[in-house]
Parts: sequence; structure tokens; C-alpha cells
Amino acid sequence: MRTKIVAGNWKMNLDVDASKQLAKDISVDIQNLETNNTRIIIAPTATNLYPVSHQVGMDTRIELAAQNMHQAKNGAFTGEISAEMIRSVGVTNVILGHSERRAYFGEHNDTLAEKVTTALQNKMEVIFCFGEHLKQRQKKLHFSTVLSQINEGLFHLNKEDWKHIILAYEPVWAIGTGETATPEQAQEMHEYIRTIISGKYDKETAQNVSILYGGSVKPSNAKEIFSQADVDGGLIGGAALNSTDFVALVKAIQ
Ligand code: 13P
Repeated sequence: MRTKIVAGNWKMNLDVDASKQLAKDISVDIQNLETNNTRIIIAPTATNLYPVSHQVGMDTRIELAAQNMHQAKNGAFTGEISAEMIRSVGVTNVILGHSERRAYFGEHNDTLAEKVTTALQNKMEVIFCFGEHLKQRQKKLHFSTVLSQINEGLFHLNKEDWKHIILAYEPVWAIGTGETATPEQAQEMHEYIRTIISGKYDKETAQNVSILYGGSVKPSNAKEIFSQADVDGGLIGGAALNSTDFVALVKAIQ
């Protein structure tokens, strides 16, 4: 059975004190939530993973994710961070393939496929991001774009591996723009994604994978998006940077 997930991608924001404070606030604010099975994941920047992992401490409801990692085990890769390193500071998830990594750091599907394999070998779950640019949607290429991103980034995996994959559909035109996919557009894409996974593997694998939507999700639009049958939660940028909004999004999923 797939789970509901709200994940906060803090991107390159917040210093160490502000990161610890935000993690603390979230930890306090979720205490009053009715118990539900929604997974809560936060992804601070790399330097703050260790202090935030200490801050979160025993609060088992909050999981930590890194925003990126290198595909190699170790070696001469100045400035990079390995799966083993992030794993050793208490990180259990990693975001891979974010459109900002693809656009500004030249990440391609072939490298991403290697990163996915390395992450899984290190017993981490992968939040795999993909999504089309505005021009691709305007030319009605959004389905084929997403198909090739998933095909090239993930279809080397076996069925068992898919238990450790979370998908995040993030149309690039909706990220940080204030513009959101309509609930219908999100549902249409998520349903399509399950169809292609079902075609490659089987229905069970397609039904069991959590598919998050990302792109300007905020408390005012979350309920409508999250209520779509194939939307299992969100990967949140801006609205994840304060606890009130972030926890409102967790509530919106119930
Ligand atoms: P915004 O929620 O700020 O649009 O960012 C979405 C995102 O990129 C999450 O990874």
C-alpha cells in the first residue's frame, strides 16, 4: 500500500540555527496533529543535515532527506558528497533529479540512473523528480517528456527496488512561480505515470508507488490537489520554510 507523504525541500535556504529552529518548530507543531500515517520528510541543505538530525532526535515522525548526492562510492570528486556520508548522519532519503539540478548543474537521466542505484545500494529511499518545461507542455510534449525521464532514470530497476522509490512530478513552470498545475492536470499526469509503470512492471507496482506533486503548493491550494485520487502528497519548496504553512499542508492531506 502506498503512503501519503509531505516532503519539504528547503533548497539553499536557512543557516544552521534557522534550520534547527525550523525542525524544532515542526516537531512541536505536529505533536498536536491527530495520528495519521502521513510521512513527513524534511530536506535541509547538506551542511545542516547533521545538526538537524540531532535536533530531530527521537522524533521518529520526521525523516531526513538530502537534496542530492554523488553516484560514486568515494574518490576524487571535490565538493561532492557520497551516499555513505549522508547515510552516516542519519539521512534515510535523498532527492534526485530535481529540475534545478537538471537545469543549473547539468544532471541528465543517465547520471541520475546511476545515482538512484547507488542510493538504493546504500539503503536509502529515493525521491525522484521529473517534469516538463512550459514549452514542452505548450507543444503537448509533457507526457513524452515525463515518460523518457522515468524510462531513462528508473526503468533499469527491478520490481523490488520500486518499494524504495517515491516519485515527484514537478512541472518546471510551476516551481517557485506561484503558478500551480490544476488539480486536473496533476491527476491526469499522475494517472498516466501509473499507466506507464504498470505497463513496464505490473499493476501492483504502479499502485504501490507514492506519487507526489510539487510546484507552488501552499495551504490555500493543497487540499484540492491532495484530494486527487493519484496524488499522494507533495514536495514543497517555499511553503516548507515555515512550520505553520508546512504543518498546514500535512493537515491538508488527512
Ligand atoms: P515551490 O513549492 O517553491 O514551487 O518549489 C517546489 C519544489 O521545487 C520542491 O522541490
